[in-house]
Amino acid sequence: MRQSLFCIGILVAFILVGCRGGGVAVTSLKVEMQENPQGVSVLTPRFSWQITSVNPDLVQQSYWIQVARSAEDLQQGKELVFDSKEVQSDQSVLVPYSGEPLQSKGVYYWRVKVITNQGATGWSEVKHWSMAFLNDSDWKASWIGEDSISNPNETDQGNTRLAARYLRKSFENKAAVKRAALYISGLGSYEAYLNGKRVAEDVFAPMPSWYPNRVYYNVYDVTSLLQEGTNTVGVKLGNGRYFGMRQSETMMFGLPRLLAQLEIEYTDGSAEVVVSDKSWKVTSRGPIVANNEFDGEEYDARLEFPGWESANYDDSNWKEADIMTAPAGKLTAQPNPNIQVQDEVSPVKITKRADGTYILDMGQNMVGWLKINNLTGKKDQPVRFRFAEILNPDSSLYLANIRSALVTDVYTPAKDGVFSWEPSFVYHGFRYVEISGLDYQPELTAFTGRVIYDKMETTGQFETSNQIINQVFKNAFWGIRGNYRGMPTDCPQRDERQGWLGDRATGCFGEAFVLDNASLYSKWMQDIEDSQSPEGSISDVSPRYWTIYNDDVTWPAAYFYGMKMLWKQYGDTNPIVKHYASMKRYLEHIQQVSMKDYILTKDTYGDWCMPPESQQLIHSQDPARKTDGAILSTTMYYSLLNLMTEFAEISGNKGDIPGYKDLASKIKEAYNTRFFNKDSALYGNNTVTANILSLQLGLVPEGYEAKVFDNIVKKTEIDFGGHVSTGVLGIQQLMRGLTQYGNVDLAYKIATNETYPSWGHMVKNGATTIWELWNGETADPAMNSGNHVMLLGDLLIWYYEDLAGIKSAPGSVAYKKLLMEPKFPQGLTHVKAAYKSAYGEIRSEWSKEGDIFSWDITIPGNTSALVRLPKELNLASPNQQGVRKVTENETMIEIELGSGTYHLSNSK
Ligand code: BGC
Repeated sequence: MRQSLFCIGILVAFILVGCRGGGVAVTSLKVEMQENPQGVSVLTPRFSWQITSVNPDLVQQSYWIQVARSAEDLQQGKELVFDSKEVQSDQSVLVPYSGEPLQSKGVYYWRVKVITNQGATGWSEVKHWSMAFLNDSDWKASWIGEDSISNPNETDQGNTRLAARYLRKSFENKAAVKRAALYISGLGSYEAYLNGKRVAEDVFAPMPSWYPNRVYYNVYDVTSLLQEGTNTVGVKLGNGRYFGMRQSETMMFGLPRLLAQLEIEYTDGSAEVVVSDKSWKVTSRGPIVANNEFDGEEYDARLEFPGWESANYDDSNWKEADIMTAPAGKLTAQPNPNIQVQDEVSPVKITKRADGTYILDMGQNMVGWLKINNLTGKKDQPVRFRFAEILNPDSSLYLANIRSALVTDVYTPAKDGVFSWEPSFVYHGFRYVEISGLDYQPELTAFTGRVIYDKMETTGQFETSNQIINQVFKNAFWGIRGNYRGMPTDCPQRDERQGWLGDRATGCFGEAFVLDNASLYSKWMQDIEDSQSPEGSISDVSPRYWTIYNDDVTWPAAYFYGMKMLWKQYGDTNPIVKHYASMKRYLEHIQQVSMKDYILTKDTYGDWCMPPESQQLIHSQDPARKTDGAILSTTMYYSLLNLMTEFAEISGNKGDIPGYKDLASKIKEAYNTRFFNKDSALYGNNTVTANILSLQLGLVPEGYEAKVFDNIVKKTEIDFGGHVSTGVLGIQQLMRGLTQYGNVDLAYKIATNETYPSWGHMVKNGATTIWELWNGETADPAMNSGNHVMLLGDLLIWYYEDLAGIKSAPGSVAYKKLLMEPKFPQGLTHVKAAYKSAYGEIRSEWSKEGDIFSWDITIPGNTSALVRLPKELNLASPNQQGVRKVTENETMIEIELGSGTYHLSNSK
C-alpha cells in the first residue's frame, strides 16, 4: 500500500549566518525599468531593485535611496540631490524619485540599501542615468538632409525607394574631454558614427512614431569615442517609416532628415556644442543605392567611399547640407531601448536549382537579415538575395503570400574576389533565401542570419512532457520577438508590417511571460494616443501609417488591455494615469456613434480568422460559424467599462465610477435580453466565441454560468471534435475559460491537438513560428502569413498561470504575491517553467506520474506565495522554515510560503 506521506524539504543550502544581514543582497538595479538609461525625460524617475538571500522568507522592511551628481559625491554621501533616508516600506519596484528637481542633460548616480527581516544590506553598487533635454530651447541643431530627389533610381511614387543619405561633419576638440553626449534623431532610420566607430549597436533608430505628433530622439554617452584633435561625426540615413515604403498619404512624411547635437564638456570647465546645420556635408551617391523595408536594400560596392565617417576624408565633392523643415511632431526622448541584433542563426542547408540559383535554408522562420561572410563575387555582377517563408513543391521560393513586397537585397561587387556585407536599413521575415549571381556553390559558413528585435530581456522558459506544447512555445518565442519593430507588428514579411491593435489585446500578457515588453508596450500606448482622432476614434493601426477609424471595439480594446497588462504584469500604473483621458474620450465617442439601445452595433472584423468550413478559404462564409459583430463589440465594450472603473480609481477619477457602473449594468441587461436564450443557455447562434466571451467577460446572468459552459464544451466536442472553433476574439478567453470552469482536459486537448485546426497542426506542417490562419498550409495566399502571433490568444497565459501555476494572487500585481495553483490535465506529466518577474525569477517544476507527485518552486525575495493543491495529492501539513501558514479544507490544502526554494512531494 502506498504510504500517503508528505515531505516538504527546503532544498536551498541553508547557511545559518550569525551576523545581521549576512547573505542578503540588493541586485538588478533599474531606473524606469532599465539599467543605466540615457536620456530619461520623466521628472520623477522610478527606482527598482531585487533582493536576495540564502535564507527563506525574505521581506524588505525599509529602503534608503541616495542620488548625487557624481559617483564620488555619492560614495562620500555628500552633495546629495536626493536622500530618502530610511523609509519604512516593503516597496522595491518603481519607487519614485522625490529629491531636488532634476536638471536637463544631468547625469545622476544612485545607490540603495535595504533593511529586511534578515538584517540590513550595505550600500548597493552605484548605478547611473542621464536626463534628456527637458526644455525645447535646449535644441540648437537644425534638421538637415538633401531636400530633393537627385538620383536616377530614386522615386517617391509607387514602391518608394531612395538611396541612403550620408552626412558628415568634422570639428576640433578644444581641450581634454570630461564628458560628451550625442542627442540625435534621424528620420526614418539612422546609423551614427564618431571617428569611424558606431555610437551604438542600435539599428532602425529611432523608434517609429506618428511623426506629425511625435518624433523620438536618442541620447548616447560618447565620451570614450572622442579623440584629441580632429573628430568626425558621420551619419547614414535610411527611409525607415518616415519616407514610407509605399506612396500613401499616411505613410509618406518626407525625405530623410537628421537632427544631431553633440554636447561636449571639457575638463577645464568649458563646453562646446556641435550641431547639425548647413556646415555639414551630404551625399546620396554612396553604396546604398536603394532601400525600403518592404523591397530590400541594394548595395553597390563600386560606390563605396572608405573612411567617410572618419577625419581625413576628402568630402569636397559632397554637397552642403540642406536645411529641412522640422517635422511637426514634438521632439521626445525615446522612452524605450532601440532595436538590436540579438541572436544569430546558422543556415542548415544549401541546394542548387536547375536554373543556377541556390536556395539557402535557415532552418527557422526568422526576422532580420542575411549577413554575408566571405563570398566570392565577380566585378559588376550583382548577387541577389530574395527572401521567403516557404518553398514551392519544386523548391523555388513561394512568394504569393509576400504580396507586393519585393524582399530582395542586391550586392554588386567592385572587384573580383571575396566580399562580406550586411544591409543597414531593411529586414525580412524568412526561412529561405534564393541566391543568384554566384558562379559557385558557397559553403553554409558564408551566411549568418541576424535576428533583430527591440532590445529586451528574455523573461520566460517553458518546457513540458508534451512535445507539441514545447514546439509551440518555441514558435511563439520566435514569432513574438520577430514582430517587435519598435511597435508590435502583425507580420514581418509581406507589404504590411503594421501595428495592428486587435492582434495584441490579450496576446500582450502572454508575450510578457516570454520577453520583458514593458517599455515597448508603454511606448506603443503613446503611439495609439498620438494616432487618436480629435473626436476620439482609435485607429485600428497605430502609429496610424494606415489610418483606420472604424469605431469598432475589438481592435481598439488593445489600448485598454495593454494598459492593464503593464499594470498587472509590471506594476506600472503611469500609463493608466497618462492615458486615462484619451481612453475615456474613446468610450464616450463610441457611445455616440455605435451604441443603440445599449448594444454596440459597429464591428468590422468579426471573430477574425476563425477556422473556415473549407480549408481553401480565409474567412468563413457559413453564417452558423460566424459570431454576430454586435456580440463581439458589446461584450468587449462591457469589459472596457469594467476596466475603466479600476483605472478611474488608480488615476484619481473616482467620480467617473458610478457612470461606468451604471452604463455597464444597462448594457448587460440589454445584451442578455437581446442575445441570451435562457432556455438553452446560449448566446446568439451558439458559437463558442459568443458563449465564452459572455462568460469570461462577466455578462452571463447569475446562476446560468454552468449551463453556458456546458454549451461551450458540447459545441467544441461534438461539432468540432475537440478542436478550436474560434478566431482571434474567442481565443483570447478560451484556454483560461475552459480551465476555470473545470475542464482543463479539454483545454489540454485543444493545446495538444495535431489535426486541423490547432497549433499542433501548424507544427506538424513544419511551422517554426505561428501562422496567421489555422489553415495556413492551404488557404488563399493573399492573407496567409507564416509569422503572425494573434492566434496565440491566451495560450501562453494558460501555460504559465494554469499549467505552471505562476500567477499573481487576486488583488496583487507584478507577482508581489503569487497564487500557485497548477492544474494537472490527464496526460501531462511534467512542467518546468521560469519567469523573470520585476522581483526576481519565479520557478515552478512539477512532475506527476501515477500517484507520485513532486514540485520544486522558487519564490523571489520580498514576495510570497499562496500554494494551493488538491487534497488528494496527500501532502500533509508542513512545518519548515519559510512556511508561514497551512490550512486545509475537504478538497484543498493551502500553504502560505515566504520567498525561497521549496521541494514539495508526497513520497519519501
Ligand atoms: C493583418 C491582421 C490585422 C487584420 C485586421 C490583416 O491584414 O495582418 O493582423 O489585424 O488585417 O483587418
